[in-house]
Amino acid sequence: MIGRLNHVAIAVPDLQAGAALYRETLGATVSAPQALPEHGVTVVFIELPNTKIELLEPLGPDSPIAKFLDGNPAGGMHHICYEVDDILEAREKLKNAGARVLGDGQPRIGAHGKPVLFLHPKDFTGTLVELEQV
Ligand code: CO
Repeated sequence: MIGRLNHVAIAVPDLQAGAALYRETLGATVSAPQALPEHGVTVVFIELPNTKIELLEPLGPDSPIAKFLDGNPAGGMHHICYEVDDILEAREKLKNAGARVLGDGQPRIGAHGKPVLFLHPKDFTGTLVELEQV
């Protein structure tokens, strides 16, 4: 059911510093920052030949990654995103298998303008999983 790895997301306390690290030290192509108020994050995407890295910085007081950074002050891997062809079909299959979908269970529009869902890390070997319909 899942397809390509779309991106790996890393939460960072300082997006500018994280972007500079990837651009200057690691020599990667880094996008301009994009604020996603409905997700409570500001993101940059790092384009790699075979996938992307998403750096996330908290945006606003209720950011879902603020708590994560409290426990990981230097930053850390936050989620991985797999591509699916049909997000509603994937959601039904996973719910039938007993997996928990986060939030109200409705897909939301993610950073690429495509519908996304998040799956409970306790149901996926301790890793927060994002599904993106491509
Ligand atoms: Co993501």
